[in-house]
Amino acid sequence: MHIETPRLLLRDLVQADAGPLASIWADPEVTRFMGGPRDGAQVRASLVEDASTPKQPDIDLRPVIEKATGAVIGDCGLLEKDVDGKREIELVYVFAPDVWGRGYATEMAGAVKRYAFTELGLERLIALIDPENASSERVAVRIGMRYERETLRPGGKLMKVYVASKDEDAWAVGARGALSERRRGRTIDAPGFK
Ligand SMILES: CC(C)(COP(=O)(O)OP(=O)(O)OC[C@H]1O[C@@H](n2cnc3c(N)ncnc32)[C@H](O)[C@@H]1OP(=O)(O)O)[C@@H](O)C(=O)NCCC(=O)NCCS
Repeated sequence: MHIETPRLLLRDLVQADAGPLASIWADPEVTRFMGGPRDGAQVRASLVEDASTPKQPDIDLRPVIEKATGAVIGDCGLLEKDVDGKREIELVYVFAPDVWGRGYATEMAGAVKRYAFTELGLERLIALIDPENASSERVAVRIGMRYERETLRPGGKLMKVYVASKDEDAWAVGARGALSERRRGRTIDAPGFK
């Protein structure tokens, strides 16, 4: 899998990603709303094993690379979840704290969503968001997801369910395209129009 945005690259896992990704997952700040810090050594070992898989599955997380530096700064992608007895595909975005506040999560999560609808043919994505995780909720809203309901997870935690559907997404892209067409038309018809 390969998804490129202006500033970021999401690609298949290689063994050298295991260290930086394990640090992200062992960080208490990063995992505050995601079940708490993982054991770094365990995560590293399982990532090294995953990296040697010949065909990495589409429904999985992938390292996110900052193009300007080549650094591994996040882990994003899709995960299969059972939510209230239904199979759902969750859009997941996790970034190292030193790159928060630059719009990276919005940039890559939006690109993964488009990839899921156009390349993988998925019809619906969800995001499970802790009600206190306001920055995650803002990312979901910015990429066009909408609040659907709350759900009680198996561990007893209440989470908000945000959804994106292929139909609504196609409509939104079409509407934005039409709007920019009209703006272009006005600019051409009336030079100097701002
Ligand atoms: C959730 C998480 C990814 C959000 O990170 P983030 O940095 O707030 O989100 P973005 O990368 O989209 O950045 C958006 C912020 O950068 C600002 N920003 C700065 N430059 C920007 C740019 N060029 N483009 C867009 N936004 C920009 C925006 O104003 C916005 O700030 P705001 O939310 O205060 O309004 C991050 O907090 C995280 O990794 N948390 C831990 C993991 C987690 O909980 N993940 C969610 C569950 S899957």
